[in-house]
Amino acid sequence: MLTLHSPAKINLFLRIIGRSPDGYHELASLFQAIDLLETIQFSLADDDTLTCTDPSIPTDGSNLILKAAHLFRKKSGLAFGLKVHLEKNIPHQAGLGGGSGNAATTLWALNQLLGKPVGIDDLIEWSGEIGSDISFFLSRGTAYCTGRGEIVRPLPPLPGQHLWIIKPHQGTSTPAVYGKLDAAKLPARDPEATLHKFYSGTPDYYNDLEGAAFAVLPELAVIKRQLLEAGYGQVLLSGSGSSFFCIGDQAPPKVPQAQAYSVKFIQRPEHGWYT
Ligand code: C5P
Repeated sequence: MLTLHSPAKINLFLRIIGRSPDGYHELASLFQAIDLLETIQFSLADDDTLTCTDPSIPTDGSNLILKAAHLFRKKSGLAFGLKVHLEKNIPHQAGLGGGSGNAATTLWALNQLLGKPVGIDDLIEWSGEIGSDISFFLSRGTAYCTGRGEIVRPLPPLPGQHLWIIKPHQGTSTPAVYGKLDAAKLPARDPEATLHKFYSGTPDYYNDLEGAAFAVLPELAVIKRQLLEAGYGQVLLSGSGSSFFCIGDQAPPKVPQAQAYSVKFIQRPEHGWYT
């Protein structure tokens, strides 16, 4: 049996470039892994089975863990079954990439359990087929991602930061948020220039999805204002929400109907997985 931690992510900035002909939006975003972790146990078995501590998580073939196992089988041509137990800890509909982190962790685990038949670059290439954010987690934990998110440019670690994640009890559905977005009305900012600012000590945090998420769930704008009034230098929606990350050490104010998590940036070791 192999027990691994599955990480979460935030988007330090997220720029929507436009809409591609397939209806998906093209983005450019600086992704960072954080130590909001959950635990997954993997073992090879006759069939694929998934159990989870959270009964609201589907454990059928729609779960990205089982999609990742299926993808590994298809791409490698190897025959195996995978038994998985997920101790869910990362909130969902949160913009924290919990399900994508699970899929990346599954691809890594399978490669270990099967004697490393493929390299990390193969896993990164395969993962784009089943979801947009999975490839990022196979980087070293800091990356500039473009396309639908699946084109990953690995980057050196940024200076460590302490953050609070505030997750309102209500989640936001990614399709609903994208549905409210009018990409043509967004300010024209050059994401490469934004990226450069993060590496020259003058970070510029923004998320083009924030306005659309506030249109879907207006309480989010109220929560953001409360968090800014608490004195954080930065409060930004992660992905399509509904979580915010707040940069600063002070304890968060009591936001009714929200959960707070104290987190920091993490990196993946060169030949290992996130811990
Ligand atoms: O990636 P995910 O399956 O969570 O996306 C759900 C929906 O969100 C897509 O079907 C699409 O409508 C929208 N989306 C998008 N552009 C992206 C990612 C998601 O328009 N880059």
